[in-house]
Amino acid sequence: MSATNFDIAIIGGGVIGLSVARALTGHQRSVAVIDAGHETPPATDAAAGMLAASFETAGDAVMADALYALGAQSLAAWPDFAAMLEDETGLALDYRDDGILAVAFEDGQATALKHSGDQLRARGGRASFLNGDEARQQEPALSDRVAAALYAPGDAQVDPRKVLIALRAAFCKNAGTLFGQRVEQVGCSTTGYRLALSNGERLEAKSVVLASGAAATQLIAGLPPPPITPVKGEALAVDSAENKFRHVIRCPAQPALPYLCPKAGGRMIIGATEIAGRRDAGVDDASIRKLRAGAADVVPAVRDWPEIERWSGLRPATPDGGPILGRDRRGPEGVFLALGHYRNGILLAPACATALAREILGGDAAGQSPLTHLQPFRPERFVSSTAEDEDG
Ligand code: GLY
Repeated sequence: MSATNFDIAIIGGGVIGLSVARALTGHQRSVAVIDAGHETPPATDAAAGMLAASFETAGDAVMADALYALGAQSLAAWPDFAAMLEDETGLALDYRDDGILAVAFEDGQATALKHSGDQLRARGGRASFLNGDEARQQEPALSDRVAAALYAPGDAQVDPRKVLIALRAAFCKNAGTLFGQRVEQVGCSTTGYRLALSNGERLEAKSVVLASGAAATQLIAGLPPPPITPVKGEALAVDSAENKFRHVIRCPAQPALPYLCPKAGGRMIIGATEIAGRRDAGVDDASIRKLRAGAADVVPAVRDWPEIERWSGLRPATPDGGPILGRDRRGPEGVFLALGHYRNGILLAPACATALAREILGGDAAGQSPLTHLQPFRPERFVSSTAEDEDG
């Protein structure tokens, strides 16, 4: 069977892969996206669409600062990203920029929120500390037990499923080619790479982008295996009927910090568990009960709201909490990584896609990577077991 030729093949048709494809649009490159569908429950299904740059930092102090900077840059790009995608596809993404309220019941939790607010302002973010009554003025359905809150007015949210559908529609409208298959093998060809798909089709591409989330495996010879592990998230949606919530609400940290994300039509997403190492799509009754109970402590009406659906997805986690972006210089030319966005694929998609597209299109001339400002996220920061073995 003869192969179809592309300039760039993106393995993974989730929000990250399709956003990278979108950032390549208009640059006279033929792009294929290959997505195995729900063989692995996608990270988008663990997401509620919080664009929570103010709260979602991770790792040590250096990584947390870098993640905040990247998240803030991406958050700032979201209004245009959403508006352009909506214009192009005619699909509403339910983007809302009403901010996020993180609430506390007790002094210890309030002190921790105050500290987060100070840290956020030191990084250049915006946050105000509210007492319980001020928090209830913002969101009247909050429990009387809420004693304090940190309000981040710049944070936002979007409906992740709608984003995925719109990205897919825009990609196809822009003459992108979508393959609903698994990539079984990637080998070298005279001009780049040859990809064998699960239905027997063959593609050739000059460059390959790995954006396969928690399904990332070692497909390419010579590329150190990306250190991605799945962290399962279970979530549910309830019908909040006539309640008019404006803000995303983050509950006090319990074993898994629940959050409530109000969507169009009264649909309220309550997410999400964090279970490391599980790859299955099952949703445990106990997890759902716990999420609902945690959410009901903060918004008592949640107890009575009927469940609409429940689901799970796999977040792609990395050892230091940061994504893995760009070409791994220890590996072959023409292979780029857009992996490991963990809890923040939706937030980080616009900024990561722009940076990746710049690197893919601009190359790595004279060692001056266009991704210099993304240095903390470069793949080489992880010592691979392969490299260790070679070093003896
Ligand atoms: N983005 C939030 C989560 O992964 O639960």
